[in-house]
Amino acid sequence: MTIPEGVGAELATRLLSQVEALNHHKDVDTILDRVLLLARQITGADAGSIFLVQNDVLRFSYVHNDTLFSKNTTDRAVYADFSVPIDRSSIVGNVASTGETLVIDDAYALDPDLPYRFNSSYDGRSGYHTRSMLTLPLRSTQDRLVGVMQLINARDSSGNVVPFDRESASVLPILANNAAIAIERGIMTRELILRMMKMAELRDPTETGAHVQRVGAYSAEIYKRWAQDRVEDGHGNDADEFRRTADLIRLAAMLHDAGKVGIPDAILKKPGKLDDEEFGRMKWHTVLGARLFLNATSELDVMCRDISLNHHEKWAGGGYPGMIPDLTIDTPIKVSTKTGTDIPLSARITGLADVYDALVSPRCYKEPWPEGKVLDLIHKESGNQFDPDVVRAFMEIHDVILAIRDKYRDAGH
Ligand code: C2E
Ligand code: SIN
Ligand code: SIN
Ligand code: FE
Ligand code: FE
Repeated sequence: MTIPEGVGAELATRLLSQVEALNHHKDVDTILDRVLLLARQITGADAGSIFLVQNDVLRFSYVHNDTLFSKNTTDRAVYADFSVPIDRSSIVGNVASTGETLVIDDAYALDPDLPYRFNSSYDGRSGYHTRSMLTLPLRSTQDRLVGVMQLINARDSSGNVVPFDRESASVLPILANNAAIAIERGIMTRELILRMMKMAELRDPTETGAHVQRVGAYSAEIYKRWAQDRVEDGHGNDADEFRRTADLIRLAAMLHDAGKVGIPDAILKKPGKLDDEEFGRMKWHTVLGARLFLNATSELDVMCRDISLNHHEKWAGGGYPGMIPDLTIDTPIKVSTKTGTDIPLSARITGLADVYDALVSPRCYKEPWPEGKVLDLIHKESGNQFDPDVVRAFMEIHDVILAIRDKYRDAGH
């Protein structure tokens, strides 16, 4: 990696170590969050967003806005779902088409002869005022375009909006290239998991895996809300540790039903109610899933094992499979029930996310329930089936939960 001339040694050193830190994150959403934070620290930008190339359009994928959003929680705007064509009519489309960075001092004073226009509809809806903009391509190795990053409203040390300066603009390509490589890796990880789940649970190559993405996203956001309350209470763990855990929970929660790979179609896809024997075999998916991760070599494996095994346990007891001393034996002996914090936090969170999604969605064996009825059940089961602290975190981010549902819709719904 070469640092352009004129870049201060201090800035260069900081940049190199922070770019390196991108490699510590596995999930693409966490990587996008870190990339935007870094780009905004370098340029002083108040806001920014990232669009990723998907099916030949630019899909809006992440946003920060210090003026509009609270700093410590995820805003539902992160899960907004829209795309921009890759053509020269918009700013981000132009950057994707030409591969050239655009630095704009006033978005509302663009020369009308330029091919692209500033789309002010977001400002109109949000009350935000966009002025300066720096929009650059995210290209990985072999010049593959991964996406476009747009930084908005650079501020000087007293907080006034100013044009983006030359020094920061010259450093950004280094970040952009490394960011693009990290983002590609994050996308590949998610796609591997989605493919694995298509085989395990659905055995249907046309299935989009939307519900798997939803359970992952709900779980990560519930965890972040849960953790935020602990940071504010001054509990030991720091924000970095929580962010790393949220990164792992999203991926591990996507795999919660991986053990369904061992459940025959006649049970898994049965259109009606399961009888006792069938349900007994179905319960086995928790142990089968845990076995996939028995040789845990990473924190992610450990979390996958915890979630697979425990996501149908209940806070007050009576869930399944319970305490099982040896997961490798085919006729397992349940020695006792699990309750409360016997059940790992990650599994308590995924358990709630899974039930919420199962209830609001159609299944081969049931109609979807209306939202209100689902929320009533979750309240009623707080302290019984569900950990009350997890229920509280879920209710506090209900608007984000709805935005996630909207973003990851089932095909044909
Ligand atoms: P799933 O469809 O992903 O459902 C996950 C969990 O959501 C269920 O775990 C249950 O806790 C909750 N849930 C789903 N539907 C309802 C409902 O109508 N009422 C209530 N109160 N809770 C509901 P559970 O029961 O341990 O089931 C695990 C898995 O077993 C289900 O995953 C599904 O794949 C299968 N399953 C359960 N019951 C039936 C059934 O009657 N017919 C078929 N074909 N499959 C079933
Ligand atoms: C959009 O938000 O639609 C794209 C913004 C732009 O014109 O760059
Ligand atoms: C944790 O603090 O990460 C786990 C505590 C719990 O299980 O509630
Ligand atoms: Fe399950
Ligand atoms: Fe499930």
